Amino acid sequence: MPEPTPTARAYTPAAGYHVLTPLYDLGVAFTTRERVWRDRLVHHMAPTEGEVILDVGSGTGNLALAIARLCPSVRYLGIDPDETATRIARSKTARLVPPPEFLVGFFSASAVAHWPAPAKIVICLVLHQVGLEEKARLLREAWHTLAPGGKLYIADYGEQRGRIMRLLFRLTIQQLDGVQDTQPNADGMLPVLMREAGFQDIRELETFRTPTGAITIIEAGKPRI
Ligand SMILES: C[S@@+](CC[C@H](N)C(=O)[O-])C[C@H]1O[C@@H](n2cnc3c(N)ncnc32)[C@H](O)[C@@H]1O
Repeated sequence: MPEPTPTARAYTPAAGYHVLTPLYDLGVAFTTRERVWRDRLVHHMAPTEGEVILDVGSGTGNLALAIARLCPSVRYLGIDPDETATRIARSKTARLVPPPEFLVGFFSASAVAHWPAPAKIVICLVLHQVGLEEKARLLREAWHTLAPGGKLYIADYGEQRGRIMRLLFRLTIQQLDGVQDTQPNADGMLPVLMREAGFQDIRELETFRTPTGAITIIEAGKPRI
């Protein structure tokens, strides 16, 4: 059964500190080669007309825009606990048709139960920012929320292979978001947690070396029955 959302309301905002949220877009663009990996993420997701896609930790709406560039007719749904980021997302995507739908709140299956079950869920640059328990909870909730036969896509700082990527990750992301939450990603825990949540056919699709560490796109499936 899906679990209730934790009562603790603390979370790390998009750019590490609430005051920096308006600068998030600029920061992510310049420090992660964003356009390259985000477009590849959407390419791998292969959105189709009318398909329901849920974006967990939708932030300032960058993925909503990237998906709309490739396939404007998807039904995009986003959830994020941060009001400021969601306000920015709504304003940036106001002209899209059909309009993306955003909800302010912590993600759980019950929080999005009023929406249709998504064929695809994407969790982008969220899991590196949350504690180990919350990573596992978000993945379990994603499994419960996803339609049977659906796909999960993660784009995030994954395993940091090699001295240079480990050093860049330590000097940037780990300074901003702390070592405790980020280290399990750097140690390659994401595929392990995905398997424990019930996902199958877990595949690393692509890895991008960026000035802030390596970002990996991972795909996984939920069986039809
Ligand atoms: C680095 S931003 C990424 C935003 C967006 N996904 C993107 O690709 O640009 C991380 C986002 O995760 C959200 N977040 C943090 N903790 C969360 C949680 N426990 N559940 C869902 N979202 C969370 C933050 O509010 C923030 O907007």
